[in-house]
Amino acid sequence: MELKVNNCRVCSTSIKPFMTFGKMPIANGFLTAEQFKGEYYFELAPAFCNKCGMLQLIEQPEPEMMFHENYAFFSSLSKHMQIHFRDFANQVKNRVLKDCEDPFVVELGSNDGIMLGNFKDDGIHHLGIEPSENVADVARSKGIQTVSEFFNLKLAEQIVADHGHADVVLSANVMCHIPDINSVAEGISLLLKSDGMLIFEDPYLGDMLIKTSYDQIYDEHVFIFSATSVAWLFGQHGLELIDVLPQLTHGGSMRYVLAPKGSHPISENVGNIFIREREQGLDKAETYDLFRKNCEASKERLVNLLKEEKKVGRRVVGYGATSKSTTILNYCGIGPSLIEFISDTTPLKQGKFSPGMHIPVKPYETFTENYPDTALLLAWNHQTEIMEKEKGFTEHGGRWLSPLPEEKSKT
Ligand code: TYD
Ligand code: ZN
Repeated sequence: MELKVNNCRVCSTSIKPFMTFGKMPIANGFLTAEQFKGEYYFELAPAFCNKCGMLQLIEQPEPEMMFHENYAFFSSLSKHMQIHFRDFANQVKNRVLKDCEDPFVVELGSNDGIMLGNFKDDGIHHLGIEPSENVADVARSKGIQTVSEFFNLKLAEQIVADHGHADVVLSANVMCHIPDINSVAEGISLLLKSDGMLIFEDPYLGDMLIKTSYDQIYDEHVFIFSATSVAWLFGQHGLELIDVLPQLTHGGSMRYVLAPKGSHPISENVGNIFIREREQGLDKAETYDLFRKNCEASKERLVNLLKEEKKVGRRVVGYGATSKSTTILNYCGIGPSLIEFISDTTPLKQGKFSPGMHIPVKPYETFTENYPDTALLLAWNHQTEIMEKEKGFTEHGGRWLSPLPEEKSKT
């Protein structure tokens, strides 16, 4: 798969970026001071395909640079996400697997087993696919069957030979990471039983445009899906969209349910979302032009707010060294002169520096031991959980600052 494309990764139509966020480092590439010199950059520029409706990056780093043995992302660190995946798994068990005899569940990008653990606990036959070896090891240590490879047609054939066809293929915040999506869709189609289901969720384009949450755009997210583009993509591989279920996670996500054509009834949610997406202008160039302007306004607001904090002598600390904040911090040019450090609970990130802007990442205790005046909520997708936890900070007079404006854009 080409890392830089001039044609849509889904339908091969010629595409051009509608904006650029400039040169970007690896979003999850937290690094040591010795590594600053050789830091890798690529151009972060999204394009929209007006044939199949897919929003995508025109350039991506090598997958090995993003997902490797030191990959620092462990899903189970968030309590709310644990609850979210327990509910997700319960819905699958109650609605899909209850009539299956000895069901088989496969998850693409199973991380540390946050979702599959819920199936394992019920003795359900499962298999996780997780290319990051160190993350897969954590899942295996919990007794979750995991293979450490990238999913493709060949691996799908191997799974069918070893385990049989799957009743359900699941994935969460993974499908939008896969540039060679046609080959993955082909593999899923082969892996599923004739009445099986593919159920996956990812950040939703409609929400991103409404909220100007441009931090969803970073190297790993090669696609930002809509119902229209998902239906087009999987329609090429014999699967049809049978339901959509909006989710609050990651600032607004969509769960897509797909099945072999004609095998299941189609929910009215599907027709309704296609209408809503047209009403929102997801198929129009003007919509992306407005998004670009909204990003520029968002940048100006944030930089001005931080400069003002500095001017009046208030200490500002970042909260949550997220991948998505790499886009915000680099696009806005926010470095250690405006943010003292970023507090994060992930041991692998602590003691390192943020990609590109090189803001030190410090353990959570550094934040609580000497509260700053202002905390920039970079992990805004965990707002509810963090606000519950950080009553002490606000009681101490601490103020929260959102990296993205609250008001909605006019899409
Ligand atoms: P994540 O939600 O995975 O976002 P992204 O996909 O953009 O990386 O990252 C959340 C980060 O925030 C992760 O590094 C852990 C950190 N974090 C805290 O430091 N404290 C908290 O209370 C929570 C919920 C997260
Ligand atoms: Zn296309």
